[in-house]
Amino acid sequence: MRINLNNLIYPLFVEEGLKKIKPTPSLEGVYIYPLEGLVKEVKKLKGLGLKRFLIFGAPAKKTWEPVSAYKKGSLVSRAIASIKSKVSGVTLMTDVCLCAYARHGHCGIIDPGKTVINKKETLRALSAMALSHARAGADYVSPSAMCLGQTKAIRKTLNNAGHARTKIMGYSAKFASNFYGPFRDIADSAPGFGDRSSYQLNYKNSQVALARIEADIKEGADIIMVKPALNYLDIIKEAKARFNKPLAVYNVSGEYFNLKQGAKLGYWNEKQAVQEVIPGFVYAGDQFTLIFKI
Ligand code: PBG
Ligand code: ZN
Repeated sequence: MRINLNNLIYPLFVEEGLKKIKPTPSLEGVYIYPLEGLVKEVKKLKGLGLKRFLIFGAPAKKTWEPVSAYKKGSLVSRAIASIKSKVSGVTLMTDVCLCAYARHGHCGIIDPGKTVINKKETLRALSAMALSHARAGADYVSPSAMCLGQTKAIRKTLNNAGHARTKIMGYSAKFASNFYGPFRDIADSAPGFGDRSSYQLNYKNSQVALARIEADIKEGADIIMVKPALNYLDIIKEAKARFNKPLAVYNVSGEYFNLKQGAKLGYWNEKQAVQEVIPGFVYAGDQFTLIFKI
């Protein structure tokens, strides 16, 4: 099987105030870029045939209220504007979530002194964040906070501000997975207390994913997503059969870590393992695959 590079989505990390490209301790081959380095990397990857990128931001400093995620001139909006002005023909997507910006490490707004997420304020903050990315030229915004109603709120905000053409890739079925560990290490976004089980989906009840995907489509998602990938090929297959929507499969950091480390220890060949894994997603029915490295 030939893998269509147009359908791969490549995640990229940009960090505020970084002097030079930084390797990540947990994911070999994955780097964090300063703004200028990011633009160069996108150019290089485009030369290799990749077209779709998902941008994750890491702020210079975290605050309880994650203002740097949505304030004017935010890191990710500058990154988007900069790439768009220097590289043509790429589709830019942005992760819209607050966990990397908030000192408490949760995906939503938490009022001072509280431990639960304030849903109304979270929807407001996610909408403002998405709008700042859209204004900078993002082709897709991709809400990953798993806050009920996030797609609807963002869609409405974008439309009202004249950005009806900006699309949404929803993290429609995002499980409270064990396999986000390396990513959280990179983004320094592990929750400071508790876990994400009150908003991410319970993998012990994976059928709930289909209801959430359906709801996300109703709210206005243009691309739906199942995340992680390998454990949920059944959900992917069912979603493909049930819903007439482009579907993305997110092969998450822990899945990449396994692949990479097994190869490094000599238990399998990395290239062959990748060639075994990705077609599995395609057979199960995805159109877009998010993967850390090609
Ligand atoms: C932000 C976000 C996370 C991932 C993507 N967006 C972290 C999380 O939910 O804890 C995980 C990505 C990965 O592990 O590859 N909410
Ligand atoms: Zn988050």
